[in-house]
Amino acid sequence: QIIHLADYRQTDFVLERVDLTFELDPTETKVEARLIFHRREGVDPAAPLVLDGDELVMTGLLFDQMEMDAARYDASPDSLTIRDLPATEPFEITITTQINPEANTQLMGLYRTNGIYCTQCEAEGFRRITYFPDRPDVLAVYTVNIIADKASCPLLLSNGNFLGGAGYGEGKHFAAWFDPHPKPSYLFALVAGDLGVVEDTFTTMSGREVALKIYVEHGKEPRAAYAMDALKRSMKWDEEVFGCEYDLDIFMIVAVSDFNMGAMENKGLNVFNDKYVLADPETATDQDYANIEAIIAHEYFHNWTGNRVTCRDWFQLCLKEGLTVYRDHEFSADQRSRAVKRIAEVRHLKSEQFPEDAGPLAHPVRPTKYREINNFYTTTVYEKGSEVTRMIATILGRDGFKKGMDLYFERHDGDAATIEDFVKCFEDANGVDLSQFSLWYSQAGTPLVSISSSYDQAKGDFTLSLEQMIPPTPGQAAKDPMHIPLRFGLLLADGSEAAPGAINGAEVTGDVLHLKERRQTVTFSGIASRPVVSLNRGFSAPVNLHFEQASADLAHIARHDDDLFARWQALNDLALPSLVAAARKARAGEPVETNPVLADTLIAIAGDETLEPAFRAQALALPSESDIARELGSNNDPDAIRAGREAVLAFVANRDPAVFTALFAGHRTEGAFTPDAASAGHRALRNAALAYLAVSDGTPAHAADAFAAADNMTDLSAALTVLAHRFPDAPETAKALEAFRARFADNALVIDKWFSIQSTIPGEGALARVKGLMESPHFNKSNPNRVRALVGTFAFSNPTGFNRADGEGYRFLAGQILEIDPKNPQLAARILTSMRSWRALEEVRSDHARNALRSIAAGEKLSSDVSDIVERMLKG
Ligand code: ARG
Ligand code: ZN
Repeated sequence: QIIHLADYRQTDFVLERVDLTFELDPTETKVEARLIFHRREGVDPAAPLVLDGDELVMTGLLFDQMEMDAARYDASPDSLTIRDLPATEPFEITITTQINPEANTQLMGLYRTNGIYCTQCEAEGFRRITYFPDRPDVLAVYTVNIIADKASCPLLLSNGNFLGGAGYGEGKHFAAWFDPHPKPSYLFALVAGDLGVVEDTFTTMSGREVALKIYVEHGKEPRAAYAMDALKRSMKWDEEVFGCEYDLDIFMIVAVSDFNMGAMENKGLNVFNDKYVLADPETATDQDYANIEAIIAHEYFHNWTGNRVTCRDWFQLCLKEGLTVYRDHEFSADQRSRAVKRIAEVRHLKSEQFPEDAGPLAHPVRPTKYREINNFYTTTVYEKGSEVTRMIATILGRDGFKKGMDLYFERHDGDAATIEDFVKCFEDANGVDLSQFSLWYSQAGTPLVSISSSYDQAKGDFTLSLEQMIPPTPGQAAKDPMHIPLRFGLLLADGSEAAPGAINGAEVTGDVLHLKERRQTVTFSGIASRPVVSLNRGFSAPVNLHFEQASADLAHIARHDDDLFARWQALNDLALPSLVAAARKARAGEPVETNPVLADTLIAIAGDETLEPAFRAQALALPSESDIARELGSNNDPDAIRAGREAVLAFVANRDPAVFTALFAGHRTEGAFTPDAASAGHRALRNAALAYLAVSDGTPAHAADAFAAADNMTDLSAALTVLAHRFPDAPETAKALEAFRARFADNALVIDKWFSIQSTIPGEGALARVKGLMESPHFNKSNPNRVRALVGTFAFSNPTGFNRADGEGYRFLAGQILEIDPKNPQLAARILTSMRSWRALEEVRSDHARNALRSIAAGEKLSSDVSDIVERMLKG
């Protein structure tokens, strides 16, 4: 059944209050929900109350405390309908349900992981706890009572502020929580169990002291210190930058090891995948630290963008997610190097969102229909949604954006809002019209901007001709021209920037050119010599650019732009055509030639000690195999793409190995490990150099030495990756893999790295390796992190291994999907999206892929999650 945005209407009944009582038991938990409703004014007095359920068993139903007459209701596992309800006065419904947390392998609703009771309610998990108007526009104040065994559950947590607790009969106790902030059911949370805690406090800008608690498994407390630090920095930053202050007496985070996603922003009680909380130098990489910082911030920031202002319906998901991702990106940019952070964001956007937008799963940032909402927690809603928010900031400028945000909080605090509400705040606060801009929310597909330029020396005129094209996507054949804000600069030969006398043909505000028509010609006058255009600086718009710039011009930007991001982008634009050409040559069995300008520019930047090391490491990382596949567009052969890329890589590695030797030797971080961005940058550069050294040298010696010498997880896993990926059959590799396994055997999060490093070893041997690893005692197919680390990483990040020409990779994945789906549909559907670009493969592979997808589609009793994805992939 398909839900349409256009069908939205308010509920007939207003929910006033919610009182929940849980009697926790591993297999027979009793939930009593007392709900006070009244009929909304003007609603038909005969209209029944219809509540959502999902696999529920009802054991009691009271109306105003009296047993409800059976003739007045119908209960099924997925809904409860009650008739003959008062026309105007409030009434109370008390529903009792019995649920089995132990058997809840979907990890939605109330479940148990490692003896801990926890919940995940977004998007529609609350209806697995009790019958409820389970939709985000139903906001109410909740009181929660939790009764549980005292010995196994000393800790009883829910949203809001702690009211009190006491003993409760034989061996039990109870606790009561009250959340004064009206909230939708998806923000409900309950946690109970026996956990260790790290505590701190934060004093808000108005002087209130907030207790901060991070709960982790006993013994892991020291590994939560960094998360606590990140939390305090997030709280401070949100006050300083957005004026957002925390609004309860306590803020809690609980880390659990079985979790379908990264984390969840439940009011006052965030629940996290422990991967995004736990870190210490011995077991966490710099990337892990950066992820923890970003996700702690993300969930905390939801307190205002998501919780205080929530979504009217799930079509508006990007209202909270796109905005909150934008906020966490800005936070990380302020905590670290802004340019390097931006490069990482754009790499991620291009490698994840651009393929989604170019394939059968493409959908608008704000979709207009869905079958399964869980399948819309996508990189389009999150990351493209963030880019759309960033464009508003680019168009309005820092102050204009702030004014709009202030108005948004002022106008919509306590509301369940829409994208229209959000955009209107920016319009009203700045007196502008954003109607054309709003197409970014409704038109799917990555716009393609084609550009050509000419220079008239005699007149001093420089002209840019721009044309935008938005490719067709499922359900959207034709599109209107969009408002595309392009930051730009005109670089002169000496590296300085031209200041045009006049600009005609487009609106330009500051350094932003506003492309609004399908075709536009822009003339810059008073330009004394031919400039090199640096366009889409900072990736101001999430578009593809087709601009035939000469290698020398790109190299000029790469070496001289004062915008570091633009330098990286120019390098990327220089590299991609070489890599594409190399892939074509490799496919044709011809020798690959590499553009020496690329190699020399890259090496010059890598060796430039005036630049920050993290940036130089990014510069050294050539576009990935999937970047090349995307650039090629169709009829792709992943083996040829890899072969071509390897040839270019080898050319760069052999061009001047001394540079890499020097970088490797010169960027050792001395002394005790610190996870700060500067130290991480040195490690990144050193490890990038190691990867090139392994290629030029052709032996495992460097990596084996680096592995032996490593005193932190970043260096250790980087060395192990080089060994495994470059020298999979070397005895040094086998030894290192085993040493790593043995040393971290009891740390599941590190063992996940061990799985991922091996599942991404390129080539057709990968599948056998993955199958072998699934037999390892460390593998656990009911733990989402393990499954993602091994099966997910193989399918998403091993192009040559997964896309074997004989189709075995796809058949393996199909088998896995059918096996995972009955237990955990969300996990299965998510991993299946790894096949989203199957249509861009050459014929032999795409035939195998189609057959594998069909075999999934033919599966019995598919979840709506998997059938929705597989059907869209076969259709679109
Ligand atoms: N709201 C959470 C976050 O972005 C993620 C929830 C994901 N839910 C889902 N059904 N996939 O922080
Ligand atoms: Zn979020």
